[in-house]
Amino acid sequence: MKKFKLTLLLLSLGFFTYAQNSGIKSSVENVEGKVDSVLNLMTLEEKVGQMVQYNGSWDLTGPASGSDNKQKEERLKKGLVGSMLNVLSVEAVEKAQRLNMENSRLKIPLMFGYDVIHGYKTIFPVPLGETASWDLEAMEESARIAALESVAEGVNWTFSPMIDVSRDARWGRIMEGSGEDPYLTSKVAVAKVNGYQGEDLSDPKTIAATAKHFAGYGLAEGGKDYNAVNIGTNELHNVVLPPFEAAANAGVATFMNSFNTIDNIPATGSETLQREILKGAWNWNGFVVSDWGSITEMIPHGFARDKVHAAEIAVKAGSDMDMEGGAYEAGLEKLVKEGKVDEKLIDDAVRRILRVKFKMGLFEDPYRYTNSNLKDEVPYDEHRATARDIAKKSIVLLKNENDLLPISNSVAKIAVIGPLADDKDTPIGNWRAQGEKNSAVSVLEGLKNAVDASNEITYAKGVTLGQGERSFLFPLDINETDRSGIPEAVEKARNAELVVMVLGEDAFQSGEGRSQANIGLAGLQMELLKEVHQVNQNIVLVLINGRPLEITWAAENIPAIVEAWQLGTESGNAIADVLLGKYNPSGKLPVSFPRAVGQEPLYYNRKNTGRPYSPEHVTYSHYTDIENGPLYPFGYGLSYTTFEYAEPELSASEISGDGSARLSVAVTNTGEVKGKEIVQFYLRDLVASAARPVKELKGFEMLELEPGETKTAEFIIDSETLQFYTADGKWEAEEGEFELMVGPDSEDLQQVKLNYSK
Ligand code: NOJ
Repeated sequence: MKKFKLTLLLLSLGFFTYAQNSGIKSSVENVEGKVDSVLNLMTLEEKVGQMVQYNGSWDLTGPASGSDNKQKEERLKKGLVGSMLNVLSVEAVEKAQRLNMENSRLKIPLMFGYDVIHGYKTIFPVPLGETASWDLEAMEESARIAALESVAEGVNWTFSPMIDVSRDARWGRIMEGSGEDPYLTSKVAVAKVNGYQGEDLSDPKTIAATAKHFAGYGLAEGGKDYNAVNIGTNELHNVVLPPFEAAANAGVATFMNSFNTIDNIPATGSETLQREILKGAWNWNGFVVSDWGSITEMIPHGFARDKVHAAEIAVKAGSDMDMEGGAYEAGLEKLVKEGKVDEKLIDDAVRRILRVKFKMGLFEDPYRYTNSNLKDEVPYDEHRATARDIAKKSIVLLKNENDLLPISNSVAKIAVIGPLADDKDTPIGNWRAQGEKNSAVSVLEGLKNAVDASNEITYAKGVTLGQGERSFLFPLDINETDRSGIPEAVEKARNAELVVMVLGEDAFQSGEGRSQANIGLAGLQMELLKEVHQVNQNIVLVLINGRPLEITWAAENIPAIVEAWQLGTESGNAIADVLLGKYNPSGKLPVSFPRAVGQEPLYYNRKNTGRPYSPEHVTYSHYTDIENGPLYPFGYGLSYTTFEYAEPELSASEISGDGSARLSVAVTNTGEVKGKEIVQFYLRDLVASAARPVKELKGFEMLELEPGETKTAEFIIDSETLQFYTADGKWEAEEGEFELMVGPDSEDLQQVKLNYSK
């Protein structure tokens, strides 16, 4: 391993003293002493430089700031850049690192960040889909694989996981998170951080993770991206913050703040969020990177006069690094010199940045991620096999009338129809990192790979969904007029025994900036579905999408529906595994599916209101024009077998203080095939100092059962299970009665009561 001059210099000067390691797991020792040693050598200009992040122009994931490449290169040479994003390939990373290391005075290594959201080259299901597996080990494994593939290309920092609780299917970025539940999202957050960062952040097979977007971004008003968030303090603590606290406790190296205002204060400028809660109450000691230009965006928010003012607000609030916004570079030095910003704040930010760099082992070897020659070692084939495994676990069976699925061997003629049936690009989804265009296995290919020669498969696209170039930055052009393919599709459906209809959303219909006022099947897809249905009702509808869709007509008229999200590289093979019964579906929805878009935001853990239900009159909380409640609730998903739940048993109906009770429920596989059941445990605090949700998930257990087998799921309830952020601003369990509920989804639940006293 190479040793570098600075390290030697510092060592010889005896600069290193022992200091405690933070929660970020790393085998690098005496980090705090090393950080201070470097900080002591830095000029103000160099300190501010560490707080600047540049886009590398290899990929554009936001509007460019305007600083040209020449300017960037000059700053790199002077050691005035802390990190870069979107620098892709070992060569490009090495080039930028060399410019910095070989020319700058202090030789402080750069970090290289990228949006590795659901895989780097091998693409896994979009996070919302992957969460439907409820399989935390699988989610950790896909993050570990993504980390390995990233470092093989020089990337050592991902802007993931996105752990914004989101309750609104109109919000395009709902695909990037884990859905509507804070408990489930918290579990996924920890799994992802562990997967990316591993046991030792200085291991060159791991990358630094980012908990984003801090905070509230997923609750944008009207589901419109970047929009204001209006929630109170109690809701913030109970719903939005738990996944972030879980990530902080798991030792996530960085946080990213968010574009939105929350209670009219831009999150990027929020001292409460960043200094008081994150760095204060949670005592977290990584660094906060702004979202792309979010510091400068405080100007259009009407919160800052200009870039310099924006820099002042952001640094005071605790934003440590400016992503491609140009505000820190424009303002920080000046602000310190004028006495408007205390240099101690700059020192705090730089200390945090250096800490992460030391923990990554970058000071020991700035080229550890580019020298490792991991490229030839990456087992891409194995990664594909894992991607297929996780993809099939993420599929949710929504409807299966008369056991139409799995497709029986006797079905000789299958027509595969729809704009997404042979689409090899859409399953890669948005935020695809270096997942290649058109590199997924399509449903048509997957089925052809899997069926035997006696099956005849015909195919017709029917209609096109998105026309023209698909790209990250520009909206998709949906086909609303070209119906020319419909007659062929109808003909093929007429001549088949079974139709597999593949509909949904294009890859670039969800993701950043893709909020929609309508969430039905876009374009001419409904028309196609209805025309096919006229001639053949034996339809299996396979949905490929990044958000919950409004599919009420399909739910009423189509016998079998499979939610297959955007499942990544191995999509078609995984779908075929499920359709043909090689894998018994086990996924459950991490988000509610509405009957109508007007129900959004729709989430199971809602409040009861003062007027919950009254069949006699109209003045209660409901919509008068539709059946209320979701079409498919949170936690819902069928299997090819059936599970029977016994009555739940509670070991004690009263607990006090540190005491605990055990809730258990026996589940039997009453069907013919082996299957997995995700047993869910919810609770309700009946009377509390603040209104509590009608139910909230507090535990889940996956049981794998052979036909006829019975296993018992157990949940331990203690004061920690019962606690919430009270009206007094404390996390505690309040005395009184609780309903404990267990069952296969958030609606089909059996209940027992528990009393808690202090
Ligand atoms: C903006 C997005 O909000 C954020 O999630 C992403 O990490 C950055 N752009 C960088 O691409």
